[in-house]
Amino acid sequence: MTVKTKAQALRALNEEQLAVVIANSKLHEGTKQAVPGDGNPEADILIIGEAPGKKEDELGVPFVGAAGKLLASLLESIGMKREDIFIANVIKHRPPDNRDPLPEEIEVYRPWLEKQIEIIDPKIIITLGRFSMDFILGSGFVISQIHGQPKRKNGRVVVPLYHPAAALYSGNLRPVLFEDFKKIPKIIELVKQSQKPMERQQNLL
Ligand code: URA
Repeated sequence: MTVKTKAQALRALNEEQLAVVIANSKLHEGTKQAVPGDGNPEADILIIGEAPGKKEDELGVPFVGAAGKLLASLLESIGMKREDIFIANVIKHRPPDNRDPLPEEIEVYRPWLEKQIEIIDPKIIITLGRFSMDFILGSGFVISQIHGQPKRKNGRVVVPLYHPAAALYSGNLRPVLFEDFKKIPKIIELVKQSQKPMERQQNLL
């Protein structure tokens, strides 16, 4: 798919799924707008957070508040920009007072993120925090045990990381998050190498 058609497919999806979530959940009530996602639909990397906060609700763009600033520094620390990735959330409307999303809300919003993944078709998914990790890897993982360790799921590489907001509350997680981010360029390189035809890989040696 070209950049244009992926962007078009995402826009059509947003319209379709907005109607679905409004019909099936009350979460949108009291919010300013949905925050479907932002970035380059052709990106190899999809970053998935939890849900929009106050600033995101105001602007309709994910990760533009305090956690977003930390995410921007993390990306910059490995020479990447927001334009190099696509960013989305498990939940597309801001939960009241930034409470955790409820299991039934996650189910209502599930097809939206699943179809975004299908359209963008990223090589690597980076999950930020527990809700995103559970969504992608399934339950049963503990973030403190697997953060920064690439996993394989449905043919993609998944890198579970702490949520930047957790590092804002608990300062000792900040260096851990920066250390985990440092592993990403190498993971991208390995994924790209493993997807090249064998002769081209050998020529590179
Ligand atoms: N936290 C998230 O998980 N997503 C956002 O968009 C902002 C903060």
